[in-house]
Amino acid sequence: MHELQTLSPSSIPANPSLFEFLKSETADLHLSIESVMPLLRADLTLAEYRSHLIKMLGFYTPLEARLSQYVQEFGDGLSIARRFKTQWIHADLIALGESTIDLAESPKNAGISKISSLPKCVGILYVIEGATLGAQVIRRSLLNNLNLDDTRMHFYNGYGSETLTMWQSLRSQAQNAVKDSEYSESGASARETFRLLLEWLRAS
Ligand code: HEM
Repeated sequence: MHELQTLSPSSIPANPSLFEFLKSETADLHLSIESVMPLLRADLTLAEYRSHLIKMLGFYTPLEARLSQYVQEFGDGLSIARRFKTQWIHADLIALGESTIDLAESPKNAGISKISSLPKCVGILYVIEGATLGAQVIRRSLLNNLNLDDTRMHFYNGYGSETLTMWQSLRSQAQNAVKDSEYSESGASARETFRLLLEWLRAS
């Protein structure tokens, strides 16, 4: 639907950077995720948007708990702590009338495992930080189709005008931290993250 077609072998650079590699590894799953997200539909309702955010809360809450655990254990060389978004989703849902108690009790994904290595962590960050790029497209659609403004739409506004800077800084930190021999471990982790989200969005 958007610009992320699966790369043909001839369009993959001979010596891809880490993020070029991750993009080609996950392009098929990105297309699948786009197809299960209802957010670009012109007839999207506020109720559908709200239930989508509840699903995202159920995915990001345990994932960011694992990332916090990783930071405590291995340090924050990848600037993870400033990238957390669960609070944004929570605030958006409160602004839509949800209660803190209901949100605390909403379903959370129990299948997100402990992050055991830096290359695995980078694979996860690639997925959730890359999502902030597409979020800019989603934000414009939500502004057009629902009667919302940025004060009630923090998650899909994301880093706003800082989005590209945040992405570029992760890309260079990750490139310096992951060895060539570890690319495949990051790739498997990025695929697993996309797969878990896809299953979660399809099931819940
Ligand atoms: C309707 C839903 C979505 C749309 C329309 C969409 C669209 C896009 C677009 C247009 C880009 C390229 C932005 C640019 O190059 O400036 C992008 C990048 C990306 N998106 Fe999405 N996206 C969606 C959902 C998601 C979700 C749910 C995730 C993961 C949680 C995700 C992960 C990524 C990643 C990792 C990239 C970076 C690709 C790269 O390496 O360049 N996207 N998305």
